[in-house]
Amino acid sequence: MRTPIIAGNWKLHMNPEQTVEFVNAVKSKLPDASKVESAICAPAVDLDALRKAAEGSNLHIGAENAYFEVEGAFTGETSPKVLNEMGIHYCIIGHSERRGYFHETDEDINKKAKALFANNVTPILCCGESLETREANKQEEWVVGQIKADLEGLTAEQVSSLVIAYEPIWAIGTGKTATADQAEEMCKTIRETIKDLYDEETAENVRIQYGGSVKPANVKEIMAKPNIDGGLIGGAALDPESYLALVNYQD
Ligand code: G3H
Repeated sequence: MRTPIIAGNWKLHMNPEQTVEFVNAVKSKLPDASKVESAICAPAVDLDALRKAAEGSNLHIGAENAYFEVEGAFTGETSPKVLNEMGIHYCIIGHSERRGYFHETDEDINKKAKALFANNVTPILCCGESLETREANKQEEWVVGQIKADLEGLTAEQVSSLVIAYEPIWAIGTGKTATADQAEEMCKTIRETIKDLYDEETAENVRIQYGGSVKPANVKEIMAKPNIDGGLIGGAALDPESYLALVNYQD
């Protein structure tokens, strides 16, 4: 069975001091890791403080981005190899903010996925459609296209351990959540796509999160859906009390 994964994505928030305060406030109250995996993905400048503060707790640590090369003349980039050396478990790739503001393409994202797997860091691969695409009722073909391009050349074993986050762009930071049924429908389509591309076992293993205005008030309803295995949460994961309510949604 798939272990649910609730991950915060801090985006461009928090400094190392705030990071340590946050971890100290939550670390003894996290759920048992066999029931729910708790993770925080943080800005690169906070990762060292985050990992040290979380040592010995159930908190998994993720980066928000990495480059597809491990070293060289690439000013400003983060190496997947160094993330691994630092003990970082996850790395978000393909977030719509990176696709949009930083012009990342599916080809870049595919290279990043390969580089992360080669360095033992698990990608959290984001996908999702714009409001315009949903209004044209083209969301399924859009998301399936992203998944196919982003996973090109990855093995079934790699995809089995991957986390995919479905995040409709129109629901991010807007307070406008996709309904639990809309989220489930797309997560089911993503799982079927994995089955078509790989096999049933891989599709059953891959964990699929929903992201977009998830908060303590709606997390339970979203997590009750059979194809949704977690949440990737922005705003509501910045406050310790709210984060604890999210990860402890089963209580
Ligand atoms: O990665 C997280 C998503 O962009 C969702 O952000 O929970 O603030 O809507 P949000």
